Amino acid sequence: MQTIFSGIQPSGTITLGNYIGAMKQFVELQEDYNCHFCIVDQHAITVPQDRLALRKNIRSLAALYVAVGIDPTKSTLFIQSEVPAHTEAGWMLQCVAYIGELERMTQFKDKSAGKEAVSAGLLTYPPLMAADILLYNTDLVPVGEDQKQHLELTRDLAERFNKKYNDIFTIPEVRIPKVGARVMSLQDPTKKMSKSDPNQKAFITLLDDPKTIEKKIKSAVTDSEGIVRFDKENKPGISNLMSIYSILENKSIQEIEEMYAGKGYGDFKGDTAKVVVDALAPIQQRYYELIESPELDEILDQGAEKANRTANKMLRKMRNAIGLGRKR
Ligand code: AQP
Repeated sequence: MQTIFSGIQPSGTITLGNYIGAMKQFVELQEDYNCHFCIVDQHAITVPQDRLALRKNIRSLAALYVAVGIDPTKSTLFIQSEVPAHTEAGWMLQCVAYIGELERMTQFKDKSAGKEAVSAGLLTYPPLMAADILLYNTDLVPVGEDQKQHLELTRDLAERFNKKYNDIFTIPEVRIPKVGARVMSLQDPTKKMSKSDPNQKAFITLLDDPKTIEKKIKSAVTDSEGIVRFDKENKPGISNLMSIYSILENKSIQEIEEMYAGKGYGDFKGDTAKVVVDALAPIQQRYYELIESPELDEILDQGAEKANRTANKMLRKMRNAIGLGRKR
């Protein structure tokens, strides 16, 4: 059976973008793959985080993974900081990575642009991400389009390590969904939807209540043409809403265009809000059952134990390959 690894940062509440671009595919994939799903809390601290909010977001993300359908009897669900092998392997891979290639990462450029106090961790986070993936002999990494560049770097680092030291890493493939790989901001549809966007109206979280969802979709930026037609370049706002509708309702873009021919944006936005509310209702119900339950702690304890076992095996191989410590 092939292995999958994917992580999400607890840097806020998961958005519809994270769900459609990443989580939704996880649920289907766990049937056919040996899956590892990780709450990458050490990635989240590359930018400032409030201590209590971070703790809350970690637990909330864990509950959301289960609420969307991750089955802990099929998949390993764990918190990155509870598996210390990640940071140790991350350090080794930092020593294989070049500063120049890290500085070229688009996410680093975006998140550091115009800021004075940029953490060194923001620059060196891709080797930690590579470690997350490589520790589990990962064959496939399902992510949204924004992570493609980091995945290419992961492959480069793995190949470089294999050549320089010993051929121990599996070279992972990236898997990007055909539709919904890039859900856009509701307020600026040329930018991706992000959970840490300071403008709350720009994103929908998986825990937004129906009224909030309706308000956010009704105030989504569109255009003045008034025709529900898919055209990413000239009508990015309406096309973004159409993609969301299409994925959640399992309807083709063409079907949606036909359904709304002769109708205005008001009708379409109202129905899109309903589609989103209906899709999130069962997830929210399960979330509230889980969030304070000991069941969630048991799932995370078991996940950490399993992940530590697998990751430590690869860590030992890495240390031996480089020549660190004594041979074990
Ligand atoms: N807008 C998006 N559309 C589709 N997929 C997306 N992903 C993120 N945004 C979109 C995918 O979600 C997974 C988890 O992402 P992450 O939390 O590790 O980091 P991120 O990509 O930086 O996500 P955010 O929401 O933008 O977080 P912040 O605001 O903290 O930086 C990844 O698979 C990602 O591709």
